[in-house]
Amino acid sequence: MARVLLGVTGGIAAYKACELCRLLVKAGHEVTPVLTPDAERFVTAHTFEALARSEAPRDLYPHLVDADLLLIAPLSANTLAKLAHGLADNVLTQLGLAFRGPILAAPAMNVRMWEHPATRANAAALAERGIELLGPAEGELAEGEHGPGRMVEPEELFARAQELLGQTGRLAGKRVVVSAGGTREPIDLVRFVGNRSSGRMGVAVAAEARRRGADVTLVYANGAVPAPEGVDVVPAPTAADVGREMLARADADVVVMAAAVSDYRPGNPEDGKRPKDKEPWTITLEPTDDVLAELGRRKQNGQILVGFAAEGGADGLERARGKLANKNGNLFVYNDVSQPGVGFEAEDNEIVLLSARGERKIGRRSKEECAVAILDEVEALLGGD
Ligand code: CTP
Repeated sequence: MARVLLGVTGGIAAYKACELCRLLVKAGHEVTPVLTPDAERFVTAHTFEALARSEAPRDLYPHLVDADLLLIAPLSANTLAKLAHGLADNVLTQLGLAFRGPILAAPAMNVRMWEHPATRANAAALAERGIELLGPAEGELAEGEHGPGRMVEPEELFARAQELLGQTGRLAGKRVVVSAGGTREPIDLVRFVGNRSSGRMGVAVAAEARRRGADVTLVYANGAVPAPEGVDVVPAPTAADVGREMLARADADVVVMAAAVSDYRPGNPEDGKRPKDKEPWTITLEPTDDVLAELGRRKQNGQILVGFAAEGGADGLERARGKLANKNGNLFVYNDVSQPGVGFEAEDNEIVLLSARGERKIGRRSKEECAVAILDEVEALLGGD
C-alpha cells in the first residue's frame, strides 16, 4: 500500500480524476484528495471523499510528510504556472512547494494555452526540477479545437503512478488463492463449533498479493474484517466448504491456507434448533479433512503452497517444523498464539517463516507488514532463490 496525495485543479477534465481516484483506491492505496477552489466548480470534494473513503483532512501536514507521491490531475495552465514560480496561494500549491517526494502531473488545457511560450517555459522549468508531466494527449478539445491539450486517460496515469510507486506487479499474471477466517461447524440450525480467527492475516495476504498485481481469490470463512477491493471472494463457512473451494483451485500458482479450519465437526447436526431441556447434551465431534495435506498431495511443479501453524508453548516451533516436513508445503508461517497481543483477533503478529531457504523470524509488527514479508518469501521461492 502506498500513500498518494491526489491534487485536482479546475478544468473540464476534473471529472476524470474521479476515475483515477477509484483506480488508486482499488489498488489498495490510501488517497488524500486535495482540490483547488477552482476544481470545486467542476467536481465536489464530497465525490472524492466518498471514492477515497476518507474525509479531507483538516491538517495536511502528516499526509504531506508520509505521502509517497503527489499526483496532480488535471493540472491547469494556471496551477502549472504557479508551481513553476513557487506560488503558494492555496492548499495544493502549498503542497507543491512543501512536498519532497515524486510529483506526477497531467496537464490539461486549451491547445493555444499549452503552446504559448509562457506555458512552454513553465513546463520546462517543472521538468528540470524532476516533476514529471504526462501528456497532454492529442485530440478533440472541449472548445471544439484539435491538438494537444486533453488530459491523458486515468488508466495511463494510474499505470505510471504504479511504476513510480514501485508497484508494477511483481506477481502480475500469477493466480493466488488464499483461504482466510475461521470455519463454523453447525451443531444445529443456530449453534456452531467455531474458533477465534478474525480473518485479518489472510485478508492482509490477499490484499498484498492483489497490490503486487496477482489475480486473487479469497476463500473466506466468516471473517470479521472486510475483504479487500479487487479480489474475488468465495464464501466458505464450513471446513467442507473451504476444502471444496480450495481444491477446485488447486492449480493456482500460489495457494495460501491461512484459514483456521476446524479439525472437528459435530457428527449429526440437527436441522432445526434443538430446544433446551434439563439433560446434558453430548455432542460427538468427527474429524474433518485436512485441506492443506490434500493440497500438498496435489501440489504441482512450480506451485508455492503456504501453510500456517498456529501453535503455543515451548515446542511450538518444533511442531511447525514437523508440519513443513509432513504436509509437502513450501512455506510455513509459524505464530505463537499463546503470546498476548499477537495472533488470534489481534492486529499484530509475530511470525517465523519456515521454508527450504531456512528460517526467518519476523519481529512483532502489523499483520499487513507480516503479509509483505510472507509474499516477499513467496516471490523468492517462485523465483527459485
Ligand atoms: N488446515 C487445513 N485443514 C484442516 C485443519 C488445518 O488445511 N482441517 C490447515 C490450516 O489452514 C493451516 C495448517 O493446516 O494452514 C495448520 O493448521 P493447524 O491447526 O495449526 O494444525 P493442524 O494441521 O490442524 O495440526 P494440529 O491441530 O495437530 O496442530
